[in-house]
Amino acid sequence: MITLDQHRSDPFVAPHLRQGLHRRVQSAHEALLAGTGAGSQWLGWRRILANPNDALLEELSQQADEIRARADVLLCIGIGGSYLGADAVIDALSPYFDAPNTTRSADTVLPLAGDESERRHGRTKVLFAGHHLSGRYLEQLLAYLEGKSVYVNMISKSGTTLEPGIAFRVVRQWMEQRFEDCDRRIIATTDAHKGALKALAAEKTYRTHVIDDDIGGRFSVLSPVGLLPIAVSGVDIRSLFYGAVAMKTEIDTTDYHEALRYAERRYALHESGFTSELLSIFEPSLSGLGAWWQQLYGESEGKDHKGLFPVTCLFSTDLHSLGQYIQEGRRTLAETFLTLEHDGGQLKIPHLPDDASNQSPDGLAFVAGKSFSDITRAALEGTMEAHAMGGVPVQHISVPRLDENTLGGLIYFFEHVVALGGYLLGINPFDQPGVEDYKKAMYARLGRS
Ligand code: PA5
Repeated sequence: MITLDQHRSDPFVAPHLRQGLHRRVQSAHEALLAGTGAGSQWLGWRRILANPNDALLEELSQQADEIRARADVLLCIGIGGSYLGADAVIDALSPYFDAPNTTRSADTVLPLAGDESERRHGRTKVLFAGHHLSGRYLEQLLAYLEGKSVYVNMISKSGTTLEPGIAFRVVRQWMEQRFEDCDRRIIATTDAHKGALKALAAEKTYRTHVIDDDIGGRFSVLSPVGLLPIAVSGVDIRSLFYGAVAMKTEIDTTDYHEALRYAERRYALHESGFTSELLSIFEPSLSGLGAWWQQLYGESEGKDHKGLFPVTCLFSTDLHSLGQYIQEGRRTLAETFLTLEHDGGQLKIPHLPDDASNQSPDGLAFVAGKSFSDITRAALEGTMEAHAMGGVPVQHISVPRLDENTLGGLIYFFEHVVALGGYLLGINPFDQPGVEDYKKAMYARLGRS
C-alpha cells in the first residue's frame, strides 16, 4: 500500500554507512516487537492495535452520533498530542468546503426527538481551543459560539497543562452560564486514575474516556483522544483504526518492510551529517498530518543533541517562499515527499480560443486540456529532480489515495518508523524530558510556588 522510492537519496549516504545497517535496523525492529527496547512501558499504541477493542469503537461512534444530533459545534480543548492527531485526520478527510446541503439554512434544521425547544442546523463542526495562548482567539471563538448548541471535549492526560487548562476555565464558566445540562455536554478524556481533570470530572459527573497509562500523547490519535472528535467530524473511525491494524500486521510480518528501509535511510542520512528532514506535501489537507508528524518526530528523536529536525512544507505554495533555500541554502536538509497516487484533481485547464495559434495572452496554451493532477505530477517530479541535483537527498513515500483506511495505515507507518529511529539513535523515543524546561521558567514568571 505504501511505496517508497529512495534512489534520489542513495548518493548522499556516507560510504561507510552503505553496508551493515540492515542488521542494526532489524535488531531495533525485533526489540520493538518483543517490547525489550527503551521505554517499552509506552507501547500501548501497538497494544491497542494487536487487540482491537470493538466495544470501545462502538461506544465512541454512538457518543459521536449523539453529539452530531445535538450539537452545532464540538469544541475540543487540548494541546500537543491531545490535539494534533484529531486535527490532522479531520483536516485530511473532510471536504475543503461544506457541501451545499450541510450549510446552516432553514431547510436543514434537524428537530430533536423529545426536545422541541432544542434545534440545530446542519453538520456539527469540530473546533479547537487550548492549543495556544491567544486570548483574542478565545474571545472571538466564544462570540462565534453564542446562540449555538455546543458540546465540549476537554482532553488532557495530565489535566494540568497550562494552555488547555486556562481555556477550559473560561469555556466551562461560559457553558455553565448558558446550558442547564452543561455537565452532560462536557466530556473529559484523561488519565484513568489521577490528575486534576479526573477529579473535576468525578465531582461534576462529566462523562469520561480514558487515556491508557502506556500511551503517550503523541501516540494517542487512535485512542479516545483522537477518535471521539474524529468520529464527530463524520469520519468512519472503524476503517481508520483497522487501516492501522492492517499496517501493523504488514510491517510486523513482512521481511524488511518499507518502514524499516525508511528508518534505515533516515538514520544513515543523520549519520552522514544531515540535520533536518522536510516532509514535503502537495495536498493542502495533509498540512495537519504534517503538524502531527512534526510533534511525533521532534519529541521522539530530539534528545541528547541528536535527531533530524522535522519541518513540513506545503508545495507548491512553499516553493515560492522556501524553495530558494531548499535549492541553494546550507546543505543540511534531507527531504521526504509524501504524495497521493490518486489525488482527485481531475479538474482540467480550459482551452481558450487563441490557444491553437499559441497567441493566448496568459501564455499557458501548453497546459490547456491537462488536469490539475497532471500538473501536480510534473511539479512533483520536477521538484524531486531539482532538489536532488541541488544536493538534497530525496525520498518519496506514495500512498494510493486519501481515505480512512490509508490514513490509519500511514499513521501507524510513521509511528513504527520513529520508534525504530529512536532505537537507532540510542535514545528513548517515548519520553520528552526537554519540554519541562520552558514550563519551569514560564511558571516562575507567573508566580507559581
Ligand atoms: O506528547 C506529549 O506527551 C505532549 O506533547 C502532550 O501531548 C502535551 O503536552 C499535552 O499534554 P496533556 O495531554 O497532559 O495536556
